[in-house]
Amino acid sequence: MTSKMFKIFACIIFVAGQLLLANAFTNPVKTTDGSDPFVVYHEGYYYLTTTTWSNIQITRATTIDGLKNGSRKTVWTDATTSRCCNMWAPEIHWQSKEGAWYIYYSAGTSGTFDNQRLHALRGSATDIWNSTWNYAGRLVVPNRDVWSIDGTVLVLGSTRYMVFSSWDGADQCLYISQMNNATSLGNTVKISSPTLSWERVGANVNEGPAAVYHGGRTWIVFSASNCAGTGYKLGMLELTGSNPLSASSWKKSSNPIFQSANGNYQPGHNGFFLSPSGNETYMVYHANSVSPGTCDGKRYTNIQPLHWYTDGTPDTGSPRALNENIPEPK
Ligand SMILES: *[C@@H]1O[C@H](CO)[C@@H](O)[C@H](O)[C@H]1NC(C)=O
Ligand SMILES: *[C@@H]1O[C@H](CO)[C@@H](O)[C@H](O)[C@H]1NC(C)=O
Ligand SMILES: *[C@@H]1O[C@H](CO)[C@@H](O)[C@H](O)[C@H]1NC(C)=O
Ligand SMILES: *[C@@H]1O[C@H](CO)[C@@H](O)[C@H](O)[C@H]1NC(C)=O
Repeated sequence: MTSKMFKIFACIIFVAGQLLLANAFTNPVKTTDGSDPFVVYHEGYYYLTTTTWSNIQITRATTIDGLKNGSRKTVWTDATTSRCCNMWAPEIHWQSKEGAWYIYYSAGTSGTFDNQRLHALRGSATDIWNSTWNYAGRLVVPNRDVWSIDGTVLVLGSTRYMVFSSWDGADQCLYISQMNNATSLGNTVKISSPTLSWERVGANVNEGPAAVYHGGRTWIVFSASNCAGTGYKLGMLELTGSNPLSASSWKKSSNPIFQSANGNYQPGHNGFFLSPSGNETYMVYHANSVSPGTCDGKRYTNIQPLHWYTDGTPDTGSPRALNENIPEPK
């Protein structure tokens, strides 16, 4: 090979490499205040929300890599005493019956975490970024108006449910209610308690539910154990019965599905989102860089694809190392 040929060859390899990298990203996508992340893709943009505690912010970009330095807006702050503070786990959901975007989040009073409840904002436009956000109401649980956090929407056919986390004695459990509309819940039923040893590390916790659907099947992935310490991880329930409002319809996997690996500790509080084509499912989650970890803004946001085992169940794999190139969703 002549020197000139070599230069051309090297140039081609370089350009091909750059093209491949342009379709890849590395984690983390948010380095601080990356906790309790949620992502939705809509008409050309990814929208990321995380817990910043004092307000609700949305970051958007056209690629996952772009989220690192994406445009960011604070869309909500609130001086109302009952919901001013500890704004946790915002999630953006399209509610087709109302024809509007809603942000569901948890919030309570200053100086204590004991008054956390579920709340909703409604977007003014059919576009997330163009919306201004108005308080749409507190999601009151009629038969159990107590501490509740981490509300997420589960959709089965034309029926909507809210799944959330609440204390029952010494256990933080998962509950489900049918939604009458985007801001009104029916009576709730407990569907999961932290009964297995891996759900009881540091504290007995089931929280951060996230619904995922594939091949006509439905799962709720949730976070187990104390977010501080060494035990936080993901577990999974499958809807195996016909009535989602019955605990016996949900079957828990006996082992966790996602735990500390490759320098990412206490991975949890995840969300799922579809790729632009709708053909791929990705997951977003937070992790700590050290173990034992903390439940604060030091947690960062990671994203990676979800795969499927040959029997059709979700395969989350392990948290991937921070220097790994991960393909942009297609
Ligand atoms: C993106 O944001 C990170 C963290 O804030 C910063 O260090 C980096 O310089 C930014 N990159 C660009 C290209 O602006
Ligand atoms: C958002 O607002 C901009 C500026 O008013 C407008 O050009 C754009 O069409 C709007 N986008 C959507 C999807 O509504
Ligand atoms: C939602 O449903 C509740 C209970 O049926 C009702 O009181 C409320 O007016 C409804 N809200 C809207 C915005 O329709
Ligand atoms: C997505 O799946 C559909 C149906 O299987 C297929 O026609 C389409 O080409 C796929 N798109 C991409 C980007 O893979």
